[in-house]
Amino acid sequence: MENTPWNKVLRRTLSLHSAISTTPSFAERAERAKLVDGTRLRVIGRGNCGTVFEVPGTHTRRARTKGPSRTMRISPTRPARPSSRPRPGSKPSSPMFPSPGSPKVYGWVPCAEMDTWWEKNHARFPEQDNERGFLFQVQRILPLPEDSRTALVRNYFPTQAQTSALEDPENKACLVRPYLGKRRSKRELDNPQDTLRNYPLYMDQLEDMGADIFQFAKEMAIGLAIVHWQAGLDGMDMEFAIGSATMDTDLPAVVPRFKRVKPFCVPAGDFKRRQTHLWMLDFDRAQKLDFERWKVARKHMVTAVTENDPYFPDPSATSSMDRDTWKKFEEAHVTASEHILKLRNLP
Ligand SMILES: Nc1ncnc2c1ncn2[C@@H]1O[C@H](COP(=O)(O)OP(=O)(O)O)[C@@H](O)[C@H]1O
Ligand SMILES: [Mg+2]
Repeated sequence: MENTPWNKVLRRTLSLHSAISTTPSFAERAERAKLVDGTRLRVIGRGNCGTVFEVPGTHTRRARTKGPSRTMRISPTRPARPSSRPRPGSKPSSPMFPSPGSPKVYGWVPCAEMDTWWEKNHARFPEQDNERGFLFQVQRILPLPEDSRTALVRNYFPTQAQTSALEDPENKACLVRPYLGKRRSKRELDNPQDTLRNYPLYMDQLEDMGADIFQFAKEMAIGLAIVHWQAGLDGMDMEFAIGSATMDTDLPAVVPRFKRVKPFCVPAGDFKRRQTHLWMLDFDRAQKLDFERWKVARKHMVTAVTENDPYFPDPSATSSMDRDTWKKFEEAHVTASEHILKLRNLP
């Protein structure tokens, strides 16, 4: 471990469940947006299937409920099916059984209301991203704070790219992908990623900064057990991200009168009090497992793990840190799986 000042910042701010202070600008923007109707939407993520927009603030009529800011996700190519999927995770949970959070689905625009919705809201989208399509609204994974972003850039970006990276507003939507299953090789070292969106941190970097790698491994293992045994999904292409959450995230897992909740009417939380969390997201390609056909189900589970990005520890890695990380992962996965199966009364 190298105890440089930037490593210290990363160790502190990426530590799961640690409280973090947010930049005034983020908190103020979110607070301000709570009051302004028709806030414009900003792109915070792009994937193969859709674009993810930030909806800052709230327009709630139900002051009682509390929750973080939301993400509006739009898919021009195909309809979202939030209701057809069991929710794999829940809110970031207690330290007794810490598991990754998974963004809650708050609502979507039904087909019959699509044209009217777009007529009303088209102007809120950026010009180059306003193609009409299906969309649904999910809880936002809040980004990492400015301290982490600065430390990532100073530590890992080429010197000549640092100033522009720190000034680039796109980099504010910073989430980190913990890659416990891989160390950087020449290829990654020669081609460092130039954006903080989905910034990968490999095992050698996590080790170098002194991150609590076992904690990541255990939470991931529990997350995967929840995806497999509670949600019954293979987890194909799922992502893990280190981000943050407001500390008053207390929405029920199922939003009451879910179908009648209109987009933009879920309240935001207190953006100034936040905590670092591990999140699981992107279940577009996850398939329901059929446990009656166990061999097929098992094959799906293995493929989903081996063909995904290297989030999970590598059982064949040889360094003692890698081996110990795998052991922690395996133990936590088995314990969590047995626990869930017992609760569900499955063998
Ligand atoms: N709820 C969310 N909060 C914040 N950022 C998100 C959220 N969902 C997705 N993103 C960001 O947007 C990116 C693309 O979204 P994703 O769901 O992975 O789309 P796709 O299925 O097209 O890959 C993610 O990798 C992540 O960085
Ligand atoms: Mg994705």
